[in-house]
Amino acid sequence: MKILVTGGAGFIGSHTCVELMKSGYDIVIADNFCNSKRETIGRIEELGGKSLRLYEADMLDLEALRKIFAENDICAAIHFAALKAVGESVRQPVRYYHNNITGALNLVTAMNDAGCKKIIFSSSATVYGDPATVPIKETFPLSAASPYAQTKLVTENLLRDLCVSDPEWTCILLRYFNPVGAHESGLIGEDPNGIPNNLMPLVVMAAQGKRQLKVFGNDYPTRDGTCIRDYIHVVDLAQGHVAALNYLKKCAPGAEAINLGSGSGSSVLEILNAFEKAVGVKLPWEMGERRPGDVPQLYADPSKAKELLGWETKLTLEDMCLSSWNFANRQG
Ligand code: NAD
Ligand code: UD1
Repeated sequence: MKILVTGGAGFIGSHTCVELMKSGYDIVIADNFCNSKRETIGRIEELGGKSLRLYEADMLDLEALRKIFAENDICAAIHFAALKAVGESVRQPVRYYHNNITGALNLVTAMNDAGCKKIIFSSSATVYGDPATVPIKETFPLSAASPYAQTKLVTENLLRDLCVSDPEWTCILLRYFNPVGAHESGLIGEDPNGIPNNLMPLVVMAAQGKRQLKVFGNDYPTRDGTCIRDYIHVVDLAQGHVAALNYLKKCAPGAEAINLGSGSGSSVLEILNAFEKAVGVKLPWEMGERRPGDVPQLYADPSKAKELLGWETKLTLEDMCLSSWNFANRQG
């Protein structure tokens, strides 16, 4: 069975391709490498144990997407390709709306024309905004505090409307919490072009002595004053996509939003402690101001994923820290 993975060379996409290939799926990747590296493709093939078909294609190029469907018998798509830096999205809203929304519109247009009507979409916990309570259920109200979050909400709504208009469409909207970690081989991991924004890559760079780490605020209403997030190992997340794909093949048509998280929250200080303990280094860090837009607590109620997909996280914070460290040190 052939699956189109857009953004398959990226952080979550690469790990998902490996898990899909290990589960017997054939993979076609469409990526323009705007935030990933070409050498990742060979590593995915090595870890997945077979070859894949690569199209260096931009989601903004509808004809390129049509060509992929014309040349391959694709039964479903997993749509990762998007720009994801929240701060950058505030500075460059047009670029973000265009890349993420036009990209999704082009994909579903090419899929519709080819009669391929099954899709898994990479959404985000950011669509919950600042929730009134935690843990967060899929039924909670949605809001968007940044252009990036808007692109996720708009694409979710597009896919819902598509399902209403055409009862043959099946769309799974996976809302990820905080993906971290890397493959245990150290061959693939989070390797963005430019300076990272997320906590774990910055912790790793601090441990390597490349950057000073700042904790963004200790006056939040949480157990130690720092923000709480639901960190999920990228390999668990990748396996969540295999489970979602197996569900997509048999479930009734329509749109379904599903949280992918561990269900437990860790504070920033708890992450720093876990990292120091797992890796055996002392992290240089200092307390800083709050980062605008951060909300105190986000963690998932993952019970719907367990019920519908039979999936739950297995890997620990220690696994997340060790694998991130191992990957970073292999890159040099
Ligand atoms: P990533 O940047 O590592 O991967 C995205 C991939 O898409 C990259 O390989 C990039 O080159 C490609 N891409 C981007 N725009 C493209 C375009 N127009 N045409 C073709 N390829 C394009 O990001 P990731 O962390 O793997 O995230 C994957 C998806 O998950 C994204 O949609 C992101 O918004 C979503 N998400 C990520 C996180 C996270 O913390 N990493 C959390 C929630 C949701
Ligand atoms: C961020 C985005 C979110 C996106 C997610 C995954 C914001 C406001 N939110 O989530 O929309 O879906 O990334 O890409 O940008 N922290 C520090 N010091 C640092 C970096 C982070 O203390 O140098 C703290 C943050 O305050 C936060 C936690 O670490 O409490 C995690 O931060 P991060 O990895 O950026 O993820 P989120 O903010 O949860």
